[in-house]
Amino acid sequence: MSAPEFGGNAGMSAEYLEIRDLRVQFDGFTAVDGVDLTLFQGDLRFLIGPNGAGKTTLVDAVTGLVPATGSVTKSGVELLGRKTHKIARLGVGRTFQTASVFEELSVLQNLDIAAGAGRSPWQLLRRRKDVLPEIEQALETIGLTAHRDTPAGILAHGQKQWLEIGMLLVQNADVLLLDEPVAGMSGAEREETGQLLRRIGAQRTVVVVEHDMDFMRAFATSVTVLARGKVIADGTVEEVQNNPQVQQVYLGTTAAVQEA
Ligand SMILES: Nc1ncnc2c1ncn2[C@@H]1O[C@H](COP(=O)(O)OP(=O)(O)O)[C@@H](O)[C@H]1O
Ligand SMILES: [Mg+2]
Repeated sequence: MSAPEFGGNAGMSAEYLEIRDLRVQFDGFTAVDGVDLTLFQGDLRFLIGPNGAGKTTLVDAVTGLVPATGSVTKSGVELLGRKTHKIARLGVGRTFQTASVFEELSVLQNLDIAAGAGRSPWQLLRRRKDVLPEIEQALETIGLTAHRDTPAGILAHGQKQWLEIGMLLVQNADVLLLDEPVAGMSGAEREETGQLLRRIGAQRTVVVVEHDMDFMRAFATSVTVLARGKVIADGTVEEVQNNPQVQQVYLGTTAAVQEA
């Protein structure tokens, strides 16, 4: 392990993520180009940027799906170089741009499987009889208690995303990386999702990759703007919106936001 640096997380117990000089290359093309990012507990961070900026690749790198250089530590523990399931077990969870629930299984069964990931067969066997308290809790949090026996495949689009978030909660993820969670959602679903993210974000660190500027303005506690693999701005919604470089790179959308 490298020596603690000034401003680093040595000795701190709050769960957070520190990304330093993160770099991902695909055949000589640099998709993530030296990204530094510090995420604190309680942060509802929006990660925005044009298509192809490297947002998904950054999430992939943090969760071990693509090889990367640099450093990603969670409370001092290096994540880079670890396998995906190890990173998940260290409390870093993510969702994908397209929902990945087991469609034929019920909401409860999906949560049960997620909760079982990383547990012993003995523990799994023991809990079959009744619903685990953490699963009850997750059902409540994601608002799907009344749908516990519904096959995931027939849930509304928004509910599927909430189920995915619930699956991360029962895995005890305290860093959640959500890749475009409200894409395709109705206005009402977006609002509910924002409230859900607030509820779960208070005790955790949540990163939301998002395009919807209204949604960002309503719920972000901080924003990072990525363009061509680099962080071009970092700060509050207002700071980022007023940043000329952001306005330039993000032209259409940012200008629209300012007019609104
Ligand atoms: N597996 C891959 N192989 C080659 N290039 C990739 C791969 N994944 C992503 N890229 C490229 O990396 C860049 C960033 O992509 P991505 O992270 O998906 O952007 P975003 O999520 O911000 O829209 C894009 O130019 C994309 O084409
Ligand atoms: Mg993407």
